[in-house]
Amino acid sequence: MIGQLWINGEWCRHDADPAAPLHRVLRENLGLTGSKDVCGEGFCGACLVQLDGAPIAACLVPVALAEGAQIVTIEGLDQDPVAQSLMAAMEAEDAVQCGMCFPGMVMTLTHLLKTCPTTDREKVKRALAGNICRCTGYERIVSAACRAAKDLVAADAQKVVA
Ligand code: FES
Ligand code: FES
Repeated sequence: MIGQLWINGEWCRHDADPAAPLHRVLRENLGLTGSKDVCGEGFCGACLVQLDGAPIAACLVPVALAEGAQIVTIEGLDQDPVAQSLMAAMEAEDAVQCGMCFPGMVMTLTHLLKTCPTTDREKVKRALAGNICRCTGYERIVSAACRAAKDLVAADAQKVVA
């Protein structure tokens, strides 16, 4: 049976089992390997994608249930100014080591920065409760999110002045 998903602004056809978890279909059928396959049980946040604007664990979603939803993967954020600002801040803060958690972190934090532009360290820490990083100790990731929040507010202020 052929299924169809709306991913990163385009229809993608696949022939996966309708019960297969979305993250595996993204990775194995559609070549979108940005979302990672780690715990497979909704604990680590490595597989997060946006489903209708909210970050969700793709490993918990049977692919048939994602049909009709707007799916955005890490590959689809290359034109997203908030995600780009966050990624630049991650680099500036040296916040990534092995990178396994990075796509999920970006999904969570991009959503936070869009829904709560004046975020702070406590809010970032709470938002990251479902994202496990085994390398960094989190402090640099939190600093990067706060740096991105400041950069985005400053960029908005510049637009108002201009
Ligand atoms: S692989 Fe989905 S939450 Fe860990
Ligand atoms: S950088 Fe390695 S798991 Fe986060």
